[in-house]
Order: sequence, then C-alpha cells, then structure tokens
Amino acid sequence: MSYKLPGKRSLALLARGLPHLRDGLRYPSSSASSAARGYEPPGQFIVDRAEGDFIWDMDGNCYIDFQNGWATNPLGNCHPEIIEAVHKAHCRYGFHWEHSLRIPLAEQLAKIMPGGALPRFSFEVSGTEAVESAIHLALCHTKRRYIISFTSSFHGEGLGTKMASAYNADNNLYMEGWAGGVIKAPYPYSEQIPAGMGQEQYVEYCLWYLAEHIPKYVSPVENIAAILIEPGLAEGGNWIPSVEFIQGIRKLCDDNEWLMIADEVLTGLGRTGKMWSVEHYDVLPDILVAGKNLSGGIEACAGVAATDEILGDNVRASGGSTFAGTPGGCAAALKTLEIYERDNIVERAASLGKVAAEYMIHWQQKYSIVGQVRTLGLLLGVSFNNTSEQGEEYATARSVRHQMMKRGVWAICDFERQVRMYPALNMDEAVLLDGLAKVEEAIEHVQRHGPTVGDYPSMPSGNVGF
Ligand SMILES: Cc1ncc(COP(=O)(O)O)c(C=O)c1O
Repeated sequence: MSYKLPGKRSLALLARGLPHLRDGLRYPSSSASSAARGYEPPGQFIVDRAEGDFIWDMDGNCYIDFQNGWATNPLGNCHPEIIEAVHKAHCRYGFHWEHSLRIPLAEQLAKIMPGGALPRFSFEVSGTEAVESAIHLALCHTKRRYIISFTSSFHGEGLGTKMASAYNADNNLYMEGWAGGVIKAPYPYSEQIPAGMGQEQYVEYCLWYLAEHIPKYVSPVENIAAILIEPGLAEGGNWIPSVEFIQGIRKLCDDNEWLMIADEVLTGLGRTGKMWSVEHYDVLPDILVAGKNLSGGIEACAGVAATDEILGDNVRASGGSTFAGTPGGCAAALKTLEIYERDNIVERAASLGKVAAEYMIHWQQKYSIVGQVRTLGLLLGVSFNNTSEQGEEYATARSVRHQMMKRGVWAICDFERQVRMYPALNMDEAVLLDGLAKVEEAIEHVQRHGPTVGDYPSMPSGNVGF
C-alpha cells in the first residue's frame, strides 16, 4: 500500500486555501525552491472523517491516528458517549456561564489531582490561556515579578505563553520588549549536550544555573515567583526529564519560596501512563495546568488547579474568559473522567506504553538515522540525525513522516528533528503494533534511500503549514 499524497480532492481544497490562509503566498515560491534542490513536497491531506483509532482523508485513504488531534483525543476519535454528553449539554444550556456542570467537574478534578493536594480549579478555554492564568496567579500570589521557564519548551501561542516558550530561536523574534518578566533557563535536553558533559553532569549544570547563576546575575531570589516547567517536553521533542532534574526543581522551589507550576497540558490525564506526569517524579507542584485530554477530543476544556492557599483567596489574580468552562466543555470532561475510571484508561495507557517501548527501543541500534527513541507511557518520540546532503535540518524526520503517511500512519513532525506520536490511550493493541510496524518500514525506507522531503512547509491548511 502506498498512497499518493495529497490525493486529488485534498489537493483541490488545499489549493483553494492558498489565496486566503496564512503563508499562502509563501508556499508556491518555497515549494519551487525545494523542488529545485531535488525535494518532493511533504505528504499532506485534509481530514474528511474520524472514528476510533482511524481517520480518513478526502480521497478515501485510511490512516492509523498517532497524531490524535495534537494529543487531544484520549479515547480515540469521536467517542460516542462523549458526543452524546456534549450534545445533551448543548441542547439543555446552549451557552451560559452559570450552568450546573462546572462545580461537579471541579469536584471530580480535585479527586484526581496529584496527592489530592490541589483542590481548587479555575476554568479556561485553552491550554494557552490556562498557562497564562497560572503565571498571573503565581505573580499575584507571591507579589514577585519574574517567572523562570525553559529553552525547548512550549506553553502556547498567546503573548504571555509565547514569551515563556522557546522551542526555537525565532520564537520571540520582534517581541523581545514583552519578555521582561521571563527568565529562560536551559532544559537538560538529552541531545545537544555541551561537549564533554554526560547527561548527569548536564542535569547538575542546569540545576546549578537555576540555583546559583540566576540569583547571582539575573534576579534576586526574592523577586522570582515561580518555575514553569513541562514535566515531559512535548513540542520540544517528547523528551523525558530525569527524576533528579524534576526533584531538583521542587527542592529549589521549596528552598527559595518559588512556586512550581507544572504545565501538564499535553502530559496530563494519562498520556505518560500516570494520571499526571509529575507522579513519575514523586513531586507535587503548587499549580498544575490541564487542557487537551480534558476535552475528551470533543469540546475544549482547560484550566488551572492549585492549593487552597494560592487559589482560595487571591484578590488580585483573575481568570476565565467568556467561554471558559462551557457547558459542552464541562460535559465532555465529566464524561471523559467517568470513562477513565470505568475503563481503567490510565492503566491501559501504561501497558500500551510498555508494548510500544519494547517495539521501538531497538530502532536506536538498528538504524543509523535514528538519534533517540523516547517514550513514557504513550508519549512516543523518535529523533533523527540530520542526514540530508543539503544540510537541511528537518529533512530526515520529515521524510520518515512522509513515508509513514504513504503507508497509512499519521503523526506529528513540524519544524523539528523528530516524529512525535500520541496514540489514543485506549487504542487497540493490534492497531498500535500495526502502526509501529509501518513506522519502522518508513524508517527503513529513508535509511536506505535517504531523505526525499526538505525543510520547506506544506500547503497551509489552517494556521499552520507543516
Ligand atoms: C505543554 C503545552 N502547554 C500548553 C499548550 C497550549 O495549549 P493550547 O494549544 O490548547 O492552547 C500546549 C499545546 O500544544 C502544550 O503542548
């Protein structure tokens, strides 16, 4: 099986977007220049229909879904029970803020928060708004002015979250003037370690930077409100931090009276094989940010959980825009959590994660194009060495994704050197293994033939053209 992508129908719709969507003007010239360097366009399609573990494109091609709505469909596509719950909420309330589902959902969330220690919840629409709300909360609670975030991290696309993110050098270009309150520190990413350092030393260095360098040269300890951290990098390449690093951060926060904000928008709600990724590290954050999976893949729901002290009585911090905690969003989240409990979804994710890890781990030895295989639960990632003769940084990873799509597997590879995969937490095991076998075929193909897709964007299909 090898799909020709984009198929005719997807291509026709993508072409209609060129005069209207962001980057539509750039695409023809960038694809021509890519072709002149001998590269084909990256595989692409428009989703026509989704169900369970699969999606179909407009040309009728079927794909195993490892892309998962950007890690947002924990129970697979279009889960019928969640759709029904959301539909009922729509019919009953339309949109009102003061509906009767918000408080029951806050009760349920309090029960599943790590250590039962974060009993309060403030609703937001998206992960972006929730992270911004968490930052505001920390600043107002501590009455301090700085937060520390990390290079390679991604927290969202709002102005505040753009400032806190740093997944590449262009991230904050032209917005430097807005970044006054953010101090960026290095995340001990397991690739690109400074020469001569081992992984452990690099972790020690990164902790030293937080403990010594920042207080001495950047800001006094007592003007830092919080450390904002992803306990498991997502957009930054599905990199899994060490226990020493996350526990070191908790200790630094305790020693300096800084708050620890765990951004669990992507890692949370079972993605890593525990309800929250911080549970792998045996630490409790002061503020936890949730989103994505909370929607059940049907209707947006996000927010911030925190201690009584932080969120129970904070006169300055505000949050929650008009559509925060919509009836449909709360109905989706309530039903999702009900199914999690009924069907032991987190345990299922952990056991599927083991199956995937066992399958994937050999790729590191077997294929020289593979850099690292990184897995925690169903947070699955493979990084690729740069093997493009033209020196194009993402070509190998994007070529693997291209070959995966031709074989009927969909996953994420935007402007990065890895392919990231987020199967549904309840995916059928046979489907998961079939998908991984096709990923391996794709890796084998690129290993043998070299990269065929360059760094250039695909046709824009909305805001992005990966
Ligand atoms: C760790 C993390 N935080 C925040 C966000 C932003 O969430 P949203 O896209 O729902 O605004 C994302 C999105 O990918 C994320 O991965």
